[in-house]
Amino acid sequence: MLGIETTCDETAAAIVERDPAGRGRILSNIVLSQTDEHAAFGGVVPEIAARAHVEALDLLIAQAMAEAQCEFGSLDGIAAAAGPGLIGGVIVGLTTAKALALVHRTPLVAVNHLEAHALTARLTDGVEFPYCLFLASGGHTQVVAVRGVGEYVLLGNTMDDAIGEAFDKTAKLLGLGYPGGPKVERLAANGNPHRFALPRPMQYRREPDFSLSGLKTAVRLEAERIAPLSDQDVADLCASFQQAIIDTVYDRLRAGLRLFTERYGAPNALVAAGGVAANQAIRQTLQRLTDESRIRLLVPPPILCTDNGAMIAWAGAERLAAGLTDELGVAPRARWPLEAVAHAGSRG
Ligand code: KG4
Ligand code: ZN
Repeated sequence: MLGIETTCDETAAAIVERDPAGRGRILSNIVLSQTDEHAAFGGVVPEIAARAHVEALDLLIAQAMAEAQCEFGSLDGIAAAAGPGLIGGVIVGLTTAKALALVHRTPLVAVNHLEAHALTARLTDGVEFPYCLFLASGGHTQVVAVRGVGEYVLLGNTMDDAIGEAFDKTAKLLGLGYPGGPKVERLAANGNPHRFALPRPMQYRREPDFSLSGLKTAVRLEAERIAPLSDQDVADLCASFQQAIIDTVYDRLRAGLRLFTERYGAPNALVAAGGVAANQAIRQTLQRLTDESRIRLLVPPPILCTDNGAMIAWAGAERLAAGLTDELGVAPRARWPLEAVAHAGSRG
């Protein structure tokens, strides 16, 4: 399966194999980050992203095919992320996939980007359904019951900012640049996590929901209060912010696992996915929580947590195996909630 990812600021293509027993193998996985093109603007500029995808994608696919020693004729399917994401980029990836599928008479699979994050742990660890997913990226912060391919029940969601967005906005207001997650994490390592008293929103609520915009505002108010900021002040703000996130993640995921277990019995694992799962401090927190709850924690390696083509190819392979393919007329979608993804048997 060829997988194409162009929903945000990474252009990516990969070849993945899924054997009849459901085991996966990555044959190639090439990611081209556009970070440099967007850095000067402090965030992703949709029009620049779409044009950069157009320029890079053909060559990237050729590279992925060559590295996997694969020819178009030997593909069983071609998958592209059809949303949710920046619509210009989604159109580039999906249209390219359609053209290849048409020319090579190969089935097309239009993959939901969030579904691809959700299924990655089956590629890396072969985890069985059902499992609890913690999806934390720049655009999403959700707790999901993954019950099967195409069977996703939303247990909790953010009311405002996503966790990655909170990292990015905090970095921006401290003048650290984009993308903020890795920068805040690096500086936090040298800071005092207890210097500033920041809020832990939604703590102790039963539903595993998040609210993070107040936290970001609290960081801004503290920064303004003590301005001008020394390097140590910035490190302390980063550390205190990250500590508030960690405490929130621990409490909210504990609520999520409790709700999952009440409804479906104990999950086979807690799976963390999305760019934020690359954060070591957050990983350690999830490890502590799952050790206490005696639940297996699965976190794909960072390269498979952030956006990549292998996760799209894998989700495509899982859908193809379930008999789910798409017509060439399938539309790109800027918005496409995970719960709206069609499941096995609902389509031909
Ligand atoms: O999944 P992803 O690559 O793209 C989507 O948003 O779909 O996630 C990117 C997000 C960004 O907000 C970035 O700041 C955040 O993940 N991120 C991190 C870390 N690495 C990436 N956040 C915290 N700590 C990190 N180490
Ligand atoms: Zn993503």
